[in-house]
Amino acid sequence: MTADPRSPPAGAPSLAHDSDALAADYERLSVTRQFETGKGLAAELGIGRGERVLDVGCGTGLLAEHVADLVGADGRVLGIDPLPLRIEVAQAKTRANLAFEVGDANDLGALPPAGFDVVLLNAVFHWLPDQPRALAQFARVLRPGGRIGISTRPPNGADAVRQPIFEAMTQAMAEPPFDRHPRPRTSFVVQVDAGEIRRLLEAAGFAPTLIEVRPIVRMHASPEAVVRLYEASSFGNLFAYLPPDLRPRARAAMAAKLAALMTPEGIAEQVRRLVALAVRR
Ligand SMILES: C[S@@+](CC[C@H](N)C(=O)[O-])C[C@H]1O[C@@H](n2cnc3c(N)ncnc32)[C@H](O)[C@@H]1O
Repeated sequence: MTADPRSPPAGAPSLAHDSDALAADYERLSVTRQFETGKGLAAELGIGRGERVLDVGCGTGLLAEHVADLVGADGRVLGIDPLPLRIEVAQAKTRANLAFEVGDANDLGALPPAGFDVVLLNAVFHWLPDQPRALAQFARVLRPGGRIGISTRPPNGADAVRQPIFEAMTQAMAEPPFDRHPRPRTSFVVQVDAGEIRRLLEAAGFAPTLIEVRPIVRMHASPEAVVRLYEASSFGNLFAYLPPDLRPRARAAMAAKLAALMTPEGIAEQVRRLVALAVRR
């Protein structure tokens, strides 16, 4: 049997665990985090007046709204995301040149070929298990000479800094009673390094213009805010492998471990971002 080309690729994260509360948390907590990297990405791409921009995996639409201001009245921005509850939050942001739709990077068949000048993926690429398939879709909807901008999480390489937040979260889930429910081995987060993203982009018909891994520090107000951001950013997948009645205890146990990292300024998290810019040949 041949797989339906429109069906989600194997290993795709579940879209069934999102909720109104997670969407609202994401909108509130991403303002000082993902939104910052997104604005940087838009600036580096030099998005200007009159351009047609597709924001793939737009979440609650903060970045798309910002880009709508950059392209002005003669441009237009379309934000797509497979999570209907995130699109609902996004649709409250109204601009004449801004639209949001439920949509999936794995199937952009409803969009015309060469209809966009820019494709943006901010904190989204690592959620796409079949990256060659998604990149082929982006190449199709971009005009020749159009640009793609990706900001994503790279794997922890040999040069990586320690990640106390990640260690505390992992340690909390390695203790009873959570250890009776091991995380499934198949992780749906696909992290690529600079060399891999270059190869993927070139194979899909793009000419990379910048590929860089950058360290950034982001601050969290409290241990609970760390847990909420990770749960909201993973649209509920963080605890989805645990039975529902254990999830509140898991949140509290993670927050308790993270409390050891609290300083008067909050909890500092050192993360690395892989930024890739490329032009469609
Ligand atoms: C961490 S959020 C980033 C949201 C937004 N881009 C931002 O800058 O805040 C990751 C987003 O990727 C979206 N996503 C996951 N799988 C996707 C897919 N197959 N196609 C498009 N978006 C996807 C999720 O629904 C979620 O909104």
